[in-house]
Amino acid sequence: MTDDLRHPVFARFYPRLDAATARLGGDAHRDELLAGASGRVLELGAGHGANFPHYPGGVSEVVAVEPEPALRARAVAAAAQAPVPVAVRAGVAERLDLPDGSFDAAVVSLVLCSVRNPVRALAELRRVLRPGGELRYYEHVRGVTHGMVRYQKYADVVWPYLAAGCHVCRPTDEWIASCGFTVRRERRFDFPPSRVPNPAAPHVIGLAVRD
Ligand SMILES: C[S@@+](CC[C@H](N)C(=O)[O-])C[C@H]1O[C@@H](n2cnc3c(N)ncnc32)[C@H](O)[C@@H]1O
Repeated sequence: MTDDLRHPVFARFYPRLDAATARLGGDAHRDELLAGASGRVLELGAGHGANFPHYPGGVSEVVAVEPEPALRARAVAAAAQAPVPVAVRAGVAERLDLPDGSFDAAVVSLVLCSVRNPVRALAELRRVLRPGGELRYYEHVRGVTHGMVRYQKYADVVWPYLAAGCHVCRPTDEWIASCGFTVRRERRFDFPPSRVPNPAAPHVIGLAVRD
């Protein structure tokens, strides 16, 4: 597996979508995700660096891994404006070139929907976190009603082709809880507000601790 995953159309479109959702509450979600984070942090799938302005002062360093080259270039530019030191590098979630137990916290936001092997990615995140280290997550996930799950399963036939491998029906919150982490807090909500049913609406923001 190469450390570059090229999705040039998505890389042009995603920052604009993120800017629109930021105004609808996405920025507040990123603040909630990162409030109280401290020490050395790994951010996986950092995209164009939308989280960088939201890191609090207690964070000593962020290592931001991003495999898509155009998004990574934008993340490098965003890192230069960040309130804490951010080092951006290539890499893929399933095979992190990072030492065991070397981070105090790890951050995934809107990423585990897209990685090819999310359970393998969670194993890698667990490996690089120190015992007691935090996994902070902001992800869209499988819904809770039968109707929504059925809708998401249909959507997942085409969604990954339209959105760079993103899936809407992944039970990411359940995988986190069963992959060597203890969930300390989690908030479930639908986002963004919409009159039409959105298969990517069910979201969670949570904090789990590495066992
Ligand atoms: C929807 S974007 C989210 C970007 C950013 N985390 C945010 O909150 O805006 C999904 C990101 O996951 C990254 N990604 C996809 N597959 C990945 C993998 N196997 N390893 C690491 N990152 C991956 C994509 O390149 C993209 O930057």
